[in-house]
Amino acid sequence: MGMYIVQGGRRIEGEFCVRGSKNASLPILAACILAEDEVVLENLPFIRDVLQTLDILKELGCRVEVYGRTAVIDSSSLKKTDIDNDTVRKMRSSILFLGALLGREKEAKLECPGGCAIGRRPIDLHLAAFERMGAIFQKEGEMLSCRAEKITGTTIHLPFPSVGATENILLLAVKAEGVTVIRNAAREPEIIALVRFLRAMGAEIYGEGTGSILVEGVKRLHGAFFPIPADRIEGGTFLCAAAMTGGELVLKGLEREQMEAVLEVLCMAGCRFFWEGSDLLRLKPPKRLVSGFAIETGPFPAFPTDMQPLVMSLLTLARGRCMISETVFEARFSQAEGLCRMGADICISGGNALIRGVETLHGAEVFAKDLRCGAALLTAALGAEGESIIHGSEYVERGYEKIEDAFSFLGGEIMLQEERKTYAQKEIEKTE
Ligand code: EPZ
Repeated sequence: MGMYIVQGGRRIEGEFCVRGSKNASLPILAACILAEDEVVLENLPFIRDVLQTLDILKELGCRVEVYGRTAVIDSSSLKKTDIDNDTVRKMRSSILFLGALLGREKEAKLECPGGCAIGRRPIDLHLAAFERMGAIFQKEGEMLSCRAEKITGTTIHLPFPSVGATENILLLAVKAEGVTVIRNAAREPEIIALVRFLRAMGAEIYGEGTGSILVEGVKRLHGAFFPIPADRIEGGTFLCAAAMTGGELVLKGLEREQMEAVLEVLCMAGCRFFWEGSDLLRLKPPKRLVSGFAIETGPFPAFPTDMQPLVMSLLTLARGRCMISETVFEARFSQAEGLCRMGADICISGGNALIRGVETLHGAEVFAKDLRCGAALLTAALGAEGESIIHGSEYVERGYEKIEDAFSFLGGEIMLQEERKTYAQKEIEKTE
C-alpha cells in the first residue's frame, strides 16, 4: 500500500520509450500454456498484473525464468488445471486461463471473477461461446469447473465485440477440431498482437483486426520468440501529462494506427503531433488547452475507454466545455470525485460527464479507486498548483511500471511513499 506525493506545476517533457503493453501481455502469457515447448517473450512490462500472471504460470507447474524484461516459459511441466481463488479475485484477467487450459487439457477450474470499480464485468459471452464449442460447466458456489470431451470449431457471433471474450475464444479455438469463425470480434491492437503470437506458435488464424476472425484448429503449437508491442494506453497517459503541464514530449515505440482516435481528441484540444520516423511521436502542447467538443468511448477503432479518465483529467484545464459519454463500462467516472477535490468542474449524469474547464487545479489529498482513475489523478496532480497526495498506488502499479520514476525522469516532482499508518492502525498494533 503506497501513496504518491506530487508537487505540481513542473513540465513533463523530454524523450521516453513506452514500455510493453499490459493488455497485450496478459493474454499472450496465458497462451504460453498452449505451446509444447519453450516460449521467449521480450519487452514485458514489470507491472503487478504481469508479475501476478507469471505467478499463475508457476503455480500451474510451468517453468518460468525471467531475465530483465525477458521471460522464458516452458509449460511442458504443467501439473494442474485449477487456479487459486485469491488470484482470480485480485486479477480478473486470469479468466483468460480458462480458454488456454481448456484448449490444452480439456479441463479448468477457477473462481468466477467478480466485478470491479468500473463495472460488473460479467463473463457470459465467454461461457456461451465455450459451451457452443463443447465445454460443459459446473458451478459450485463461486467455483467454476469446466471440462470437454472434445472442442469443436463453430461460428460464434458476439453481441458485443468483447476484447476478453474474443481472446478467450481464440485461445480455445487454435487447437479445436475444425474451423471457428468469430463474428463481431474485437478489433483492438491487443487482439492483433495475440494473433501474431499464436501464429508464431503455428496457429492458423485469418482476419485479425477486422470484425471476423477465422481459426483453423491445429494439432500442436510449438514454442516461439515474441516481442511485446508498446502500450498505447501508457503512451496516451504520458501525452496527457505533457499536454496538461505544457511540456514538449517525444515518445518512442508507439504504432501510428493504434493512436489515431486518441491523437484526434488531443488535436481538438489544441495539441500538435509530428511523426518522426516509424515510431517516434512528438507532441507540441498549446499555451492553453481548449475543449468545446464531445467524446464517446467505444470498441476499437473508436476512442478507447481506457483513455477516458486521462482525457477527463486533461479537459478539466481546457478552456470551454466538453461532454464525455462512457459507453463501454457502466461505472468508469470514479476519477471525477478526486478531480473535483482538486478544483475541477465536472457534472456526472449516468454515462455522461460534462467538464467545464477551469484556469487552474490545486493540490489535494485524493484516493485512487482503480488503475486508470489513479493515473488520471496523477496527471491532474502534475498539472495542479501545490502538493497532492494520491492514495492507492497499488492500483496504478497494476498497469504502469514505476510511474513515479518515469514522471520524475521527465521533469515531474513525484515520489512514492509507504502509506502512513492511520491512528487506528497504530492503536491496534499497540494492543497486538
Ligand atoms: C479489456 O477488458 C481490457 N483489459 C480493459 O482494460 C479494457 O478497458 C477493455 O478490454 C475494453 O477495451 C484487459 O485487456 C486485461 P470487454 P475486458 O470484454 O476484456 C461487457 C485497463 O484499464 N461484457 O471488451 O474485460 C463488459 O461488462 C482495463 O487496462 C459482457 O457483458 O473488456 C463491458 O461492459 C480496464 N459480457 C464490455 O463488455 C462478457 O462476457 C467490455 O468488456 C464480457 C464483457
